[in-house]
Amino acid sequence: KIVPVILSGGSGSRLWPVSRGSYPKQFWPLLTDKTLLQETALRGQNAGLSAPIVVCNAEHRFIIAEQLREAGIADARIVLEPVGRNSAPAIAAAAFLVAEQDPDAVLWIMAADAAITDANALRTALQSAVSAANAGRIVTFGMKPTKPETGYGYIERGDEIAGIPNVYSVAQFVEKPNAEKAQALVADGRYLWNSGMFVAQARTFLSETEAYEPQVYENVRRSVAERHTDMDFERLDAASFSAAPDISVDYAIAERTKLAAVVPGDFGWSDIGSWDALWELSPKDEDGNATYGDVFLDRAKNCYVRSDGIVATVAGVEDLIVVVTQDAVMVSHRDRAQDVKHMVARLTKAG
Ligand code: GDD
Ligand code: MG
Repeated sequence: KIVPVILSGGSGSRLWPVSRGSYPKQFWPLLTDKTLLQETALRGQNAGLSAPIVVCNAEHRFIIAEQLREAGIADARIVLEPVGRNSAPAIAAAAFLVAEQDPDAVLWIMAADAAITDANALRTALQSAVSAANAGRIVTFGMKPTKPETGYGYIERGDEIAGIPNVYSVAQFVEKPNAEKAQALVADGRYLWNSGMFVAQARTFLSETEAYEPQVYENVRRSVAERHTDMDFERLDAASFSAAPDISVDYAIAERTKLAAVVPGDFGWSDIGSWDALWELSPKDEDGNATYGDVFLDRAKNCYVRSDGIVATVAGVEDLIVVVTQDAVMVSHRDRAQDVKHMVARLTKAG
């Protein structure tokens, strides 16, 4: 049995002003007419799997329920965290819930906010991953790196695992290297980017969490045992969940486990980490401009211009990102798209 688990916790501040804490990027239709959350949930449904478990911040419960309903996803379990404790506790919560019925079930952990364009290639990679998961592995997907990105995990691919085609052992997992190290890893040629998806049996996630992060294990175990039902939602016990350490699965497990495996994949993955990434993925006119909404361009080149509700005009400029919402405008050079995050941090501080 394979259970899709969708993690919806990030705030996506690099896609400000569209993405906000109260309405982050996974709830917006950024590439297609469906939101990233809907696309993610449909990925499981289209692969013929059972309904997903969505682990999310309690604040977002109605948005998520509504978006799943609109996408035709029935019977999802929506699990509410009182506070975000990063991905290790979120995954542990899903693993405890699934293990109540079937500890051997395989969890397919997905980020709510990634884009994947080749569904067939993904399905093939998933099949390999599930075989390895059933043999007790924690499986990641390795993307060919294209630049020394410091926001990703890097996976050093080891030997192919005997009897499981297309699945390799992991010689080393390096989460978010600094710029110098990232350069070296890309130059090395053996390293792949971690996609942020993980596949393993519920029991494997639990035993590795217990081994490497006993505080996460114990507090999340209690928060699941003491959960209560609130309408259609499952609320984790606040006191115990809040007591879990704040740590991502990458640091908690991926960097430490001896069970890691990797399936190299080429399925058009992108984590849509910035407006520039979105420009790259979007269809463009003959001058390289991608636009969305009421936008008029005059001699603009290689720009991303998006407006929600009001008219935006852009003339005679190149390589700009212009994003207009009802209450904020953001203009940035495409090369500086990553820095939007720092602006937002300063804005938040200034109140
Ligand atoms: N439910 C829940 N609660 N989900 C969370 C929480 C939380 O507290 N924190 C993060 N998440 C979700 C995010 O919404 C996202 O779907 C996923 O977990 C990954 O979290 P990010 O915060 O986006 O991680 P990252 O981008 O820094 O790094 C991860 O993804 C990269 C690829 O995009 C790592 O796995 C990297 O190794 C990887 O390369
Ligand atoms: Mg991310």
